[in-house]
This record gives sequence, structure tokens and C-alpha cells, in this order.
Amino acid sequence: PIDLRVKDLLKRMTLEEKIGQMDQIAVARVQGDCEWSGGALNETCMKSVLGDYAAGSILSGGGMGPAVNTPAEWAKMVNTVQKYAVDNSRLHIPVLYGVDAVHGHNNVLGATVFPHQIGLGATWDPATVQAAGASTARSVAATGIDWNFAPVADLARDQRWGRYYETFGEDPLLAGTLAAASVTGIDTANGAKHVVATVKHFGGYSEPANGHDRVPADVSMRYLQDTLLPSYKQAVQAGAKTVMVNSGAINGVPATSSKYLLTKVLRDQWGFKGVTVSDWEDVRALQTKYKLAADYPEAIALAVNAGLDMAMEPYFAKEWSTGLKTAVDRGLVSVKRIDESAGRILRMKFELGLFEHPYVDAAKADAAVLGADKDLARKAAAESQVLLRNDGGVLPISPTAKKIVVAGSYADDINDQAGGWTIGWQGVPEGVTLPGTTVLAGIKEAAPAGTEVVRATTAADAVAQAADADLTVVVVGEKAAAEGAADSPRPELSADQQALVKALKAAGKPVVTVVIAGRPLALGDADGTQGLLMSWLPGSEGGHGIADVLFGAVNPSGRLPVSWPKHIGNEPLYYQQLPGTNGGPESSYDAAYPFGAGLSYTTYAFGAITADKAVVRAGDPVGVKVTVSNTGAKAGDLVVPVYVSRPTSDVLTPATRLVAFTKVHLAAGETRTVRLQVSPGTLAVTPGDLDGAGAQKVERGAYTFSAGDKSAAVTVR
Ligand code: IFM
Repeated sequence: PIDLRVKDLLKRMTLEEKIGQMDQIAVARVQGDCEWSGGALNETCMKSVLGDYAAGSILSGGGMGPAVNTPAEWAKMVNTVQKYAVDNSRLHIPVLYGVDAVHGHNNVLGATVFPHQIGLGATWDPATVQAAGASTARSVAATGIDWNFAPVADLARDQRWGRYYETFGEDPLLAGTLAAASVTGIDTANGAKHVVATVKHFGGYSEPANGHDRVPADVSMRYLQDTLLPSYKQAVQAGAKTVMVNSGAINGVPATSSKYLLTKVLRDQWGFKGVTVSDWEDVRALQTKYKLAADYPEAIALAVNAGLDMAMEPYFAKEWSTGLKTAVDRGLVSVKRIDESAGRILRMKFELGLFEHPYVDAAKADAAVLGADKDLARKAAAESQVLLRNDGGVLPISPTAKKIVVAGSYADDINDQAGGWTIGWQGVPEGVTLPGTTVLAGIKEAAPAGTEVVRATTAADAVAQAADADLTVVVVGEKAAAEGAADSPRPELSADQQALVKALKAAGKPVVTVVIAGRPLALGDADGTQGLLMSWLPGSEGGHGIADVLFGAVNPSGRLPVSWPKHIGNEPLYYQQLPGTNGGPESSYDAAYPFGAGLSYTTYAFGAITADKAVVRAGDPVGVKVTVSNTGAKAGDLVVPVYVSRPTSDVLTPATRLVAFTKVHLAAGETRTVRLQVSPGTLAVTPGDLDGAGAQKVERGAYTFSAGDKSAAVTVR
């Protein structure tokens, strides 16, 4: 049994070796006098990190991979590192190798790149998210890697925040359900080896006070409990084996040193048994940035005593080793505490079968990864499209159209279409072109034989070409970037792009605007074209997925997973805003396109919603049935959301809250009744006055459940 193996190993390990297990070091970086960059692994460095300091884990964080590109090269490199650890560590302990494969195995050239999480959020489809997670894990496994730092369970509430697109959206239940599906997909994928998922960045990372990544957040305990933590909880309880800690501070406490988060909530309340890992250099930051510790051993003690198991201290193998040893010598950290964390890490290695099968067959890596699951990525991209305007039925493009003009620089930019975290951290590196299909290429391929597709590269050309065209598709967007570099104090479409769309509108022919961006952008002068399609960051197969929707091969079913502000300055914007007194709840949420918006090429109607019981006990689930019909002439997939509202409540609650959802396929003319279950957790709120937030509970009283324009009353006793 694994328990005995862990105990036995721990017994034979020195304190230094146990400390080493708790450290995660980066490949392809300068580490002291070790230079691992440039592709060739440096023996001196491997000896130092894996031999002398016995590091338990290695990472190649987004874009920090070695200068190798192909899956086979990656697999060989990871095997080399692994072999060095197995052969040179005294007890032959393999390392855990981690990467950020956050939308496919985006570290490797030639891997299929899925839409970023915000696009997958727009699918509202756990099955698609699970399949994308499993596909990613199979590719990751084929390159010898065991650990994927995905999914993100943070929320998208502030459009200015650079990591907005890495989330599944603004709603706790949507984000939590999809993050849970991703965990299941990654953890249960049947690849060359097992891969563990990571729920990150626990918790409340999404709320930097001014929208700037990693600025401390100040949130109420009520907001933390009721809104920010539930999505991580859902993902953790889907069986995640690892959790990455939020780099930021909340209410004056860095998450990395928060015993409340890392032990009380995560382990005591949620029952998490796995491994927590810090984010990049965050233990060091307790000393250097947050100034909570006088020196590094003190900083380490704060994190480890709070409940941290592994420190992503990418360049500091020696400092970590001596630092934690010093903390033990000073009596700041107990050996028992170290045994606990080292034991958790070793347990995971045993569970993954790493001791028995540390290597993969590099000869199989290319075949397993290159171009894998392109159809799935195309389907996911198509499913993520959100049709926001379709005046006069401008879409789908008529098969009799004679001429289509394609304008806008994002129509032919595969790299920006993939977004940040693609091969490089900030996106595809200079000089490299991602293999894949651009919007222009997708449109050309999908256009019927008699339709001419004309590419216009300047505004003047586009306007001139539009004169005798049936329609212009103008593709606008935002440059790929990541983390702080993707922060935007003004999330709006650039002036030149607004001017281009304005000129096309004035040309008098129908215009369809396609937006390639990781967040809603205030459209300004570009607003009001006949067609508006939000395409997010659709990945390598995005051009096909978008064209599938433009030409009607796929009936759009995406729904906004976020709120689209009217103007810059409306941020943060989310539908669960609490009611205010200046204008009332109705006017305090004033979105250009609200959460859940999205059109289809067919029409739907909501029939009755009925609750199983009119009276339920607090803490019991509530079953509801919703009848939906496809009243149009085309088959389609319909998102069925159920919201709750309270006529009166003990503390402020949002006007509506999503409490359940599903997605159903409806043939033209079909009517169906679907059953959904509302779990009591989604109804719970934190009661109490300002002076202290207690535990969450389901308040007694009247609740109204609604779907579409119908509602049902339920009393909780
Ligand atoms: O996993 C990432 C995290 O999302 C941001 N900081 C670096 C980590 C490893 O690359």
C-alpha cells in the first residue's frame, strides 16, 4: 500500500532530502552558476539541483521551456532530467515535472491549441471542457510531463485585469462547474502516463484592487466566502490532487502565508488531501515584497506553517535547502510539519506510478501530439462563438453571396488568435508562426464555390472593395499578452480599429464585426454593425470554428460568460452586483451585452419551470424541471440557466444568481423538459452584521427560481 511506501521512504530520507522534495526549480533558467537555457542540459546544474539539493520537482513555466520545440525533443529532454534525478538522487526518487498547458499543450510547437478558458466558458458545456482537458493531458503525458498547472478557477470580474481570459467567466457556479470538468478531464485522461491537474490560483486572485495583476485585494469575508471561494471548492472536490496558491494578498494577508486559506478552508473544511504549491517566487516575496519576514528562513516558516507543501522557488535550490534547514534549527518549523508535506509529495509520485514508470517513449511523442484532436479544437472554437447582434439576419452568410470582403488585421493573425501562454509566456515568440487556421483562411475554405473572398489590408481598400460586395467581415481585436502585461486600464477597441469599422459602416453595406480578444472591449464607434460575433482567443483551429458559424454549418450556441461593459470606466462589471440606492438595482447593472447573452439561428421559447416541492428544508437540494422548445426551423443547442432571487433576505443578495444550468440539443420544432438540481451550496450566503462573518448558511424564507421568462416559488423552512 502507498501509505507504507511513503512511511518507509520518509524513514530512510535525511532532513535535507525531505526539504528538497518541497522545492520546485525551473528549467531553462540561470540557477546560480548553472545555465540550463539553450536546449542542452547542463550537467553541473542538474547535479546541483537534483543531486546536491534533491529538488522534488522541476517546472518549465509558460514560455520558459528549453529551446526545444518538437514533442519528441521535449520528451527526450524531460526523460533526461528524470533519469538524472532517478540515477543521482541517493534514494532514486523521480521528479514531478510541471508545465502550464492551459489551452492544449501550448508549450510545444505543432500541438493543437484550444480556445483559452474564457472561450470555453462561453460554451457553458462541461463535456467540451472535459474533453479539451483530457486531450491536453494526453499530449502533455506524451512528452513525459506529469503535472499540468491548469485549470484556473478564478473569476473574471474586472475587465482591466490581464488574466481575465484565463478564467471560465464571472459566475462562481459556471466557473466552478467548468473547472471541475477540466480537472476530471486532465486527471482521468488515458495517455502515456497520468497527469495531475492544478486548481489555481487559490483563492480570490481575481480581485486586485485596481485591476492590476497581483495588487492586494481588499474584500469582505462575505464576498470571499459566498462569491470568490466556491469555484475553487467545486474544482477541488472534483478530485484535484494539487492546488496552486494565489500570488496576491487578501485583506492584508498574502495567500501564501494564510493558514486560514491553506489549512482551515482547503484541508479542514473542504477535505483536500493533495499538494499545495506556491506561485512563482512567492515564498521569497513574503520577505522581499510583502515584508512579513526579516529573512528568508522566516519567510519559509510563514508559508510552510500556513500549510504550503511545495515552493515554486525557480532559481533558489540552495537557498531553499539552507533556508528551510535554518528555520528548523531555529525552531520555527517542526520536522513533523516537513514530514507531512514531503509525505504528500511522495504519495503523489507513488500514485502517479512514477517510481515504476518514470520515462516515456520519446519516439511516440510526435505522433501523439502533432495535430492531435484538431476536430475537437474546431468544435470547441465553434461552440465558444457568441453571436451578439444579427440585425436583419445578416448571418449566416447567404450561399448566394457573390463577394465578401475580409478586413481588419486580426483576420490573418494566427498568433494573436491564440493569445498569451502559447509556446511563449506572452504569446507566440517573434519569428515563430503557429500552425493553424486564421479567420481569413477559414472563410476562404468555407465560402461556397460561387463566392469571391477578397482580402482588404487597408481601410481605404476595404471601403473601396465594399462598394460592390454583399458583406464585409471585419476582424478586430487585442494583441496577445499575459499576466501584468495584459492588464489594460482602458479595455476598449483601439482608435484605428474603431475608425476602420466606422468607415465600413458608412460605406453602406452590411458589416459583421468579429472580435478576437480575451475580454469584452468597449466598441465605441465600432458598435452597431449588423453582425457582432465574440470569438475570444479561439486557438489554432479558430479560423475554422469561426467560419463554421459565419456560414451556418454550426448554429451558434455560445453565451457570454461575462458582462460586456458599455463604456470604459464601467469596470469592474458583473451581473451579481449588489443593489444600491442611487438608481436602484435595475440601473446599477447596465451592460452593453449582459451575462448569458447570445443569439442563435433558430428561436427558442421557455415553457414552465416547476419545482419538485413548494417547501424544502434548509440544506436540501431543490429539483426543478424546465420545459424548452426550439420554435424555429434549425436544430440548435440551448443553454438552460436557472437563476434564483429572493423577495427579501437577511443580507444583500444580487438581483439574480445562477444556481444550475445545462445545455440541450433541440431539433427544429422539438420541445423537451429538462431536470436540473440546485445544490444547497449555491443558495448559501454568509449572514450576520458587519462585525464578523460566520459560516455560510441557507436562509429560511421565500425563493424564486427562474428560467427564461418563467418562474417558480419555493419556501425554505
Ligand atoms: O502556473 C503559473 C501561474 O499561473 C503564474 N505564475 C507562474 C506559474 C508557473 O508558470
